[in-house]
Amino acid sequence: MFKPDLTHADVTPKAAWMNRRQLIAALGAGSLASGLGLSARAQEALTPNTYEEITSYNNFYEFGTGKSDPAQNAGAMVTNPWTVKVDGLVDNPGDYALEDLIGDLPTEERIYRFRCVEAWSMVVPWNGFELNKLLSKVGVQQGAKYVSFETAVLPEVMNGLRSGGLEWPYREGLRLDEAMHPLTIMATGIYGEPIPNQNGAPMRLVVPWKYGFKSIKSIVRISLTDEEPYATWNQTNPREYGFYANVNPQVDHPRWSQASERRIGGGIFARRVDTLMFNGYEDQVASLYDGMDLTAQF
Ligand code: MTE
Repeated sequence: MFKPDLTHADVTPKAAWMNRRQLIAALGAGSLASGLGLSARAQEALTPNTYEEITSYNNFYEFGTGKSDPAQNAGAMVTNPWTVKVDGLVDNPGDYALEDLIGDLPTEERIYRFRCVEAWSMVVPWNGFELNKLLSKVGVQQGAKYVSFETAVLPEVMNGLRSGGLEWPYREGLRLDEAMHPLTIMATGIYGEPIPNQNGAPMRLVVPWKYGFKSIKSIVRISLTDEEPYATWNQTNPREYGFYANVNPQVDHPRWSQASERRIGGGIFARRVDTLMFNGYEDQVASLYDGMDLTAQF
């Protein structure tokens, strides 16, 4: 369709032209949050960060360890075409073109708190779909207990692969019931735009009640297994990073407190806020861990 004039909205990321109050209204944060059964206290902390904040302060070690490295370097990654291997205990294993795997899954908007283990946080309006929809499509077999995920390894563009420290590919895993939980999504967008490379294009996991390192980016493999999968940070340093990595203000990291967090951005709104149990999603997910000692299995 011919469009004679571009409006400001056509050329400016939404967050730059809407103020935060308008944004909350536009995104329906309150109603969405209450629809998901979030407590008043948990809803209160749902003012979204700006698009600029979300896409310029990142962790994506394949592209470097600095917070601005991913935004600077990840643009070189080609995300179309993109193939995802699905294997293990599934009815329909295979190497899927991304659009064949997820093209028919309707996306929705989810505004989630995002809490990094390093004690900074954001609120992100993701676009995506529930992971359980993808898993139903590929058919989870009896006996599957876990889902494991792998990130692409692209040495031509990922300059961070050469520095030591982590073993590549970046890998993460969830228990099957965690993966099937309706709060667990695969994100393909932010603020209604395709997810930028630095945030994990073309598809990344988001598990809002866990520390951010569980939310693995740029996924090329999904495997259903009967054994606890390799998880990069957990295996690199199990004393500091548990397999579960549930956000818990009462269990400190050996080197810093987890009782509060620094909310990124906001200029004069920048502040330190109390960290909430399960990142504010306690009512929805605590029952997954009934009977577990959350201090020992952290
Ligand atoms: N996924 C890959 N492949 N590589 C990474 O280094 N970092 C994790 C997670 N997923 C990481 C990753 C960490 S520590 C965090 S906090 C989040 O991504 C950061 O997501 P964001 O940059 O979108 O805020």
